[in-house]
Amino acid sequence: MAWPYANYLLHVGHIGGTFLPGDIFARYHRLRGDDVLMVSGSDSHGTPITMTADKEGVEPQVIVERYHARILEVLERMGASFDLYTTTLTENHYKTTQEVFLRLLEGGLLYPRTDEYLYDPVDERFLPDRYVEGTCPVCGYEEARGDQCDNCGAILDATDLINPRSKLTGATPVLKPSEHYFLRLSALQEPLREWVSKQAHWRRAVLNSTLGSLDEGLKDRAITRDMAWGVPVPVEGNEGKRIYVWFDAVIGYLSASREWAAGRGDADAWKPYWQNAETRSYYFIGKDNITFHTIIWPGMIMGLRDLNLPYDVPANQYVNFASGQKQSKSKGTGTWMLDLLDRYDADVVRFYLTTILPETSDSEFREDELIRTNNDVLIATWGNLANRVLSMVQRNFDGIVPDSTALSPESTALIAAASQAFETVGTEYAACRFRNGLQETLKLAQAANKYLDERAPWKAVKQDRGHAGETLATTLTVINALKTLLHPVLPFSTERLHELLAQPGSIAAQGWGLTPVAGGTKLPTPAPLYTKLDPPGDEANA
Ligand code: MF3
Ligand code: ZN
Repeated sequence: MAWPYANYLLHVGHIGGTFLPGDIFARYHRLRGDDVLMVSGSDSHGTPITMTADKEGVEPQVIVERYHARILEVLERMGASFDLYTTTLTENHYKTTQEVFLRLLEGGLLYPRTDEYLYDPVDERFLPDRYVEGTCPVCGYEEARGDQCDNCGAILDATDLINPRSKLTGATPVLKPSEHYFLRLSALQEPLREWVSKQAHWRRAVLNSTLGSLDEGLKDRAITRDMAWGVPVPVEGNEGKRIYVWFDAVIGYLSASREWAAGRGDADAWKPYWQNAETRSYYFIGKDNITFHTIIWPGMIMGLRDLNLPYDVPANQYVNFASGQKQSKSKGTGTWMLDLLDRYDADVVRFYLTTILPETSDSEFREDELIRTNNDVLIATWGNLANRVLSMVQRNFDGIVPDSTALSPESTALIAAASQAFETVGTEYAACRFRNGLQETLKLAQAANKYLDERAPWKAVKQDRGHAGETLATTLTVINALKTLLHPVLPFSTERLHELLAQPGSIAAQGWGLTPVAGGTKLPTPAPLYTKLDPPGDEANA
């Protein structure tokens, strides 16, 4: 999953765009019994960090440590099931980055070149791209940053800007020569195009934007900078220069895998994940990161020759905040996850966000919709189903799962639908269509509700205990199936349900498939899985 900059709190855009889809995917595959390695970390270099540090008058490291801790807290509370969430400040990451740099240099994919760069004549220092502001040459936006235009998304070089000004002093920058290393993207143009054109399974937006960049033609790009924060360039005489943040950040996927392996005491354990031909690597990112994951990092991998290329890069569009602004990391607007998690259970946030994942277009986060979804979907369709059935078994059968051997056609049909759902939902999850996967799951819950209402076991129990017992036993088995189907989205409440269903071992060990709840099982006292929330405004009106 994409590495968030360690100078910012996580907001719903980060979670909905990156961490939640990645986590659903990882959890789904673990349930299937697939071997998953899920890594990411805090992106600790670059001008986003130094600018925050400058503003506060502290060392960049202070900013990284503070935000890394807060990011980690959100990820833990959200139930993100990382094998490792690290930072790019580790010794291992520095070593790995320098090693990649040197191998690409030897292979001729990096070369030094002297060019002119923007220099602040007042402060007497080179200006990193983000320290320069000016008019976007693509769309005319007057406050474009030197690295990227926030208005049209174009990736820029600071020297492309019209009317540039230094953010440090306001001075008009002058050009001054400096030597930097360049990634020879021009040489990768054709190999990349050949590879990209074979990725028919990629999302259309990802494929189109990547092919668009390739059609424009790839220019060699400087991957070092004149600044004091970052991985030092491992070439004699160049120690003052640093590797550009994006170059080291994408290497994070590899260095984190190595760190994870070392942490397990098996330094080579990362290799199957990166080198086995059957391994598939997925990169969960937001749309502003596409180029780096479909062109730059794959280009670097082509240069290294011994690592797997990405299998898929299921980039998401944005989750917008209700007022319609973009959840911009650089402007400071958004719905902060820490606030949200103080008010709502992680599963409720996960559930709502899953229904609005921006898989094909931007979506909008609305707190009133979160509350409505909790009440009218999560509880009405799913929570109540589980709670009603568990309570009836408790009340009418002393908490002992009724035996039912000969099933009526309706019961057999519902069980078959539950079994089929593992196929249908699995296909959606495997293809990173998480919204559909959840909708397909909810269809099964609706079928179970309908079955339950038609057979009305609360009435039947008075005349025909066998009939009621069959209904409850059948529904319990379907609830057990729904528990597994929903586990990737609702990890916390499904764990509790697993206990309420007195199921042995872990959900993961039970696996992706139908497990009947055996007759005779003694169930513990049930408790509702979710809490109804007051619609916003009720307080004000009361
Ligand atoms: N820090 C970048 C951002 O927030 C994302 C980096 S993703 C990785 O936009 F490729 F560098 F890992
Ligand atoms: Zn623009």
